[in-house]
Amino acid sequence: MSTGAISFNEQNFEYCTPKYIVDMFGPFDYDPATTKDQAKVLGIENYSTIETNGLKQDWTQFEKIWVNPPSYQTYEFLEKAVKTYKAVKNDIYFLSPISFLTAKKFHKITDSLGVKLFIPSGRISFFNQLHHNNQPPEFGCIILKIQTANEMVFFNLGYIKYWDIQTDYKLIQNQAKALQY
Ligand SMILES: C[S@@+](CC[C@H](N)C(=O)[O-])C[C@H]1O[C@@H](n2cnc3c(N)ncnc32)[C@H](O)[C@@H]1O
Repeated sequence: MSTGAISFNEQNFEYCTPKYIVDMFGPFDYDPATTKDQAKVLGIENYSTIETNGLKQDWTQFEKIWVNPPSYQTYEFLEKAVKTYKAVKNDIYFLSPISFLTAKKFHKITDSLGVKLFIPSGRISFFNQLHHNNQPPEFGCIILKIQTANEMVFFNLGYIKYWDIQTDYKLIQNQAKALQY
């Protein structure tokens, strides 16, 4: 039976982060996995899309990077983030489902470094581009910042900002109209 919540699977990778979450950690100058419209919504000037493939781009030129990768390539994006951090020590924030923290592969990739783990006081309601809905997802997410030592921070999501998410959605629609999509 469907709960109506957003599930975590390959067909459902277009779940976008609400702007108020990104703003808590930003501003960012690069998003390696996004769409043109979502980059505008989040106010991130430099970005890569599925067409330009963020995994093939050079991330070292950017100071502060926001990554919410497509679910089917989480490890590839994490590997790239770790490699980039090791090269230039830039600020890289990475959103992932909390279950990834218990995956062997996650430990293997982050083993030589540390992460600052930001744990929200609730589940983030993503905006889903494919299904045009914004129900809370079935999985909890964390944001981690790649660094050299392990650290943990609990942070308050506040009340679930339904109206903020609606605003994000309206922005996307308006921008799509302006761009005549
Ligand atoms: C989970 S969404 C996150 C979007 C945005 N970063 C955010 O935080 O709201 C992942 C995005 O990555 C895009 N994507 C998929 N494969 C990609 C690739 N190889 N390179 C860049 N973007 C990709 C998808 O089209 C989707 O828009």
